[in-house]
Amino acid sequence: MCGIVGYIGYNQATPVLLNGLARLEYRGYDSAGIAIFNDDKIKVAKSEGKLANLKNKIENSDVSGFVGIGHTRWATHGEPNERNCHPHTSENGKFVVVHNGIIENYDVIKRQLREKGVKFTSDTDTEVVPQLLAYYYDGDLLKTVSKVVNELAGSYALGIICEDYPDKIIAARKSSPLIVAKGEGENFIASDISAILDYTKTYITLDDGDIAELKADSITLYDKELNEKETDFIVTDLDVSAVMKNGYDHFMLKEMNEQPEKLRGLYNDYVKDNKVVVPELDKIADVLDNCEKIYAVACGSAYHTSIAGKYVIEKLCRVNVETDIASEFRYRDPILNERTPVIIISQSGETADSIAALRMAKEQGAPVIGIVNVVGSTIYRESDCVLYTKAGPEIAVATTKGYATQLMMFYLFALYFAQSKGTVSEEEIAKYCSELEMLPAKIERLLSDTKTIEAFSEKYKGANNFFFIGRNTDYAAAMEASLKVKEISYINSDAYASGELKHGTIALIDKGTPVISFCANKKLFDKAWSNAEEVVARGADVVCVVSEKDEDKIQQGYEKIVLEDVIDEFSTMLEVVAMQIFAYYIAKNNGCDIDKPKNLAKSVTVE
Ligand code: F6R
Repeated sequence: MCGIVGYIGYNQATPVLLNGLARLEYRGYDSAGIAIFNDDKIKVAKSEGKLANLKNKIENSDVSGFVGIGHTRWATHGEPNERNCHPHTSENGKFVVVHNGIIENYDVIKRQLREKGVKFTSDTDTEVVPQLLAYYYDGDLLKTVSKVVNELAGSYALGIICEDYPDKIIAARKSSPLIVAKGEGENFIASDISAILDYTKTYITLDDGDIAELKADSITLYDKELNEKETDFIVTDLDVSAVMKNGYDHFMLKEMNEQPEKLRGLYNDYVKDNKVVVPELDKIADVLDNCEKIYAVACGSAYHTSIAGKYVIEKLCRVNVETDIASEFRYRDPILNERTPVIIISQSGETADSIAALRMAKEQGAPVIGIVNVVGSTIYRESDCVLYTKAGPEIAVATTKGYATQLMMFYLFALYFAQSKGTVSEEEIAKYCSELEMLPAKIERLLSDTKTIEAFSEKYKGANNFFFIGRNTDYAAAMEASLKVKEISYINSDAYASGELKHGTIALIDKGTPVISFCANKKLFDKAWSNAEEVVARGADVVCVVSEKDEDKIQQGYEKIVLEDVIDEFSTMLEVVAMQIFAYYIAKNNGCDIDKPKNLAKSVTVE
């Protein structure tokens, strides 16, 4: 969603802002703008569409200076046009603001200000912020910001500059991500550290309610009541290469290829002498010992990992797992207590619905385990126990390594839990561990020879509608495969539990309908196979995704993608990687914007 970057220092701000905004492009946006202090006046430049448009505009104007804020907007209130593009300015021109989040009471504030004669120029919720700042302003910048943010309902990450203070940027945050970062004689604000890794690695994530005052040589942090706070900076070990393509055509391809290394890292961190050792979970051993049921809650692909996780945990640990989509869970009054731990899965750690689900669970006394990829993110900070997935920054909007590391964490969680409950013998745990150890190399081999899958992508690039079908762990793979194809190639598709087809959906199968049938789970192969035959009988064009062990059972004339054999419980992983490749090449063949699919945002920070 929206991206924010701000710079104050002794260098020209414009190149830093444009570079930062380019690094934030992955979050998804439809317009961009910057505001710069230029001879004590604030100059604003904005443009609809891609950053290149903004750059062209700036080249032909005189926007220079050492202090500025920039923004990429993902439209929520008002069309994605120049009028609604950030930064927004108060009517008197004194305050200029960039904002990520949603001001829920904007209409009330807008009406009140209009009654006082204030004129608005955009359709956005954001514009109330600079207008309210100007309305309350009494010369004390910090006090005015504090008064204004205390009136805002909803979520905000704000970057504010005021014409009277050309040596300051003010940042404020509630329920939308924002960091402040320290350099040498220069300081920054940003939606995330990837925006400014070229300049610094030292930063703090603002807490809800925090207000920060940045000058070129200092950062001062305040709480809501403007009491000064300690600044506990952290230094990231991320390198700028982590946010570059490094020779790959797309971030998605790069990130797919990083999966083996990332999974190996998690394996090495958590498996010792054929046992799964997770000190983070040792701390909540009591909770796990006494748990009645586990909830696993997330959005999108992260939710799909919970489906695969459920099958494995229930099988190995004999504990009920209930999965839900965060946006549903938060409004359905689930039965929660201290004996129902809730696993919240999130790559970004900032997904609004997942955060709401987490907070609801905690309010009702349920312990929260976060499976999270971003250190310092809201879900990272608010979970009672964090399983950090260490995938590194994921830039492509469609998740790949984020998904794979979340899934690996579920596998490790299931083994740890089964071990501590004694539901699986030591020998079996050792066997599962050795299967996990082999997974990265199998993925490496799959990624190194993609010709067969590429050929299927070419064959089906013109399809209008795909069906992905499977049972159990194969169904979990089907769900993720369907989303991957939809989101990056814009081809409609759906995932169905194979056994459910006969109950209605099979009516949609016609001659030539492409059906990808997942049958890598060997225990269920025969069932999966008979469902594949049912659709073939109705004219479908079926591709079976099958383990090498069952390859010969696929009758002649059927298309297949053969995967190296993996123990059934972990088969989703290889199936999904195969489908990442499939989706990637369909999108590539169709000339789609693979890393930044239309309408999508990487981090969904609004409800
Ligand atoms: C799909 C995808 C999304 C995310 C979802 C949750 O490829 O990336 O479906 O999985 O938006 O995001 P996080 O994991 O950041 O909470």
